[in-house]
Amino acid sequence: MTIENIREAVAFIQSKTQVQPTVGIILGTGLSGLANEIEAIDTIEYEDIPHFPVSTVESHKGRLILGNLGGKAVVAMQGRFHYYEGYSMQQITFPVRVMKLLGISHLFVSNAAGGLNTGFELSELMIITDHINLLPANPLTGPNLDELGVRFPDMLDSYDPALVAKAEALAQEHKIEGIQKGVYVSVPGPNLETPAEYKYLSIIGADAVGMSTIPEVIVARQMNLPVFAVSVITDLCYEGRLQKVTVEEVIANAMKAEPKLTELMKRMVASL
Ligand code: HPA
Repeated sequence: MTIENIREAVAFIQSKTQVQPTVGIILGTGLSGLANEIEAIDTIEYEDIPHFPVSTVESHKGRLILGNLGGKAVVAMQGRFHYYEGYSMQQITFPVRVMKLLGISHLFVSNAAGGLNTGFELSELMIITDHINLLPANPLTGPNLDELGVRFPDMLDSYDPALVAKAEALAQEHKIEGIQKGVYVSVPGPNLETPAEYKYLSIIGADAVGMSTIPEVIVARQMNLPVFAVSVITDLCYEGRLQKVTVEEVIANAMKAEPKLTELMKRMVASL
């Protein structure tokens, strides 16, 4: 992945739309409802964009939506890429770099995650305040793209504390219930974890576990983009509540949280 690849993708998108987005949104599990809230002006299929990876997971469509949300010009990724699908970390994070060069000043992300914190309930939202990266590869490995950022990016305040505080205030003001805060850990998947692994993840300091988000956040932080990220708790992974879980249940629990996640994200975008 070179800077020219990124610039070609940016030039292609700019040839297809007049929208100049200021917020980039990765619509993970639980945020597909937000796509309907965007007043779409242009949509571009991933497969048409030079160097873009193409989605393989059926529950994720692969296209960019450019339009307006909460009075802001946004670009939203409908469909994201996971390590377990076989993509490289450079492929997974390519769209974030493209969105940055399109001009975004903030990145918003959502995902589905298993709840490790014993205080969490199904379909609650967890505002991510920090992360632990247990993925086996890093998107910044290889020659550094100096145009994008430094070789050794700092990771303090990766989940913008001002945005976290604002989200809490908005949730309180608008009575959006079931909002938690915590540390997200990413594992490669695609299998879920064993009971011993869930216990381990909890002991090392994680409140929720999932298989995405951290690669995108790392490249965003290298480029100094403030990040706001939310997990939907789709299954409970602590002693007493641990049980077999299917992808259908994960999606059903994510759908239950969708209206409040959509409202929170929309209000956050409007407040920028
Ligand atoms: N583990 C990993 N990823 C997940 C889980 C889980 O329990 N739930 C949703 N995504």
